[in-house]
Amino acid sequence: MPERKWLVAGNWKMNGLRADGIGLARAIAARATGALRCDLLVCPPATLLAAVADAIAGSCVMLGGQDCHPEPSGAFTGDISAEMLRDAGCSHVILGHSERRHGHGESDSVVRSKVAAAWRAGLIAILCVGETRAEREAGRALDTVASQLVGSLPDGADARRLIVAYEPVWAIGTGLTATMADIADMHAAIRSRIPRGTRILYGGSVNPGNAGDILALAEVDGVLVGGASLKADDFWRIAEAGR
Ligand code: 13P
Repeated sequence: MPERKWLVAGNWKMNGLRADGIGLARAIAARATGALRCDLLVCPPATLLAAVADAIAGSCVMLGGQDCHPEPSGAFTGDISAEMLRDAGCSHVILGHSERRHGHGESDSVVRSKVAAAWRAGLIAILCVGETRAEREAGRALDTVASQLVGSLPDGADARRLIVAYEPVWAIGTGLTATMADIADMHAAIRSRIPRGTRILYGGSVNPGNAGDILALAEVDGVLVGGASLKADDFWRIAEAGR
């Protein structure tokens, strides 16, 4: 098995006022000293980026955004550019999350333009893919994810600036997780379609109880955690899980 360092990433989604976010970030950063077996990333809502950047300064915790606009600047009310995320201290940005694809109608081509924007700004893009329950039940999970990858990945992908997160839509926020066999199959299929060495994360109801088994799978290079990333103890236990 190749030498890999996991990435444990917290997607806070639309959660946290200043006090909560700063407290959570400080609690995580306080433990993230010394040598860790994994890289740690927190992706707070945009309103908290600056405060969280301060709270994690000097620790090894990295900062990410949850979305960006394809353009670097302009008349796009309510949007944030990749350059702005970079300027706020981000190294990563989550793109194509199912809550954007399904909740905001983002097509593969929109996601592709956002990934290109992330790279333009020097950010690492965490490209999310995943099938709905109907697609899985119809036996189309692998095809769906393959087509999302083809449609959402710009030319010029390389492992230094791309991370793929497999998040089955039906597993997000439901307490359901894909079976270990399904995760292994999907990650192997994704692996065959992306540049060598690219990290592949699993996301969807990851918690301290299941993280060890998921992280032990050969093709899993980390996890993208939603709900459980909002509690410092749970996030930390996930970071410590596994081998
Ligand atoms: P949950 O961990 O809450 O299921 O969310 C997963 C997710 O969407 C991470 O991006």
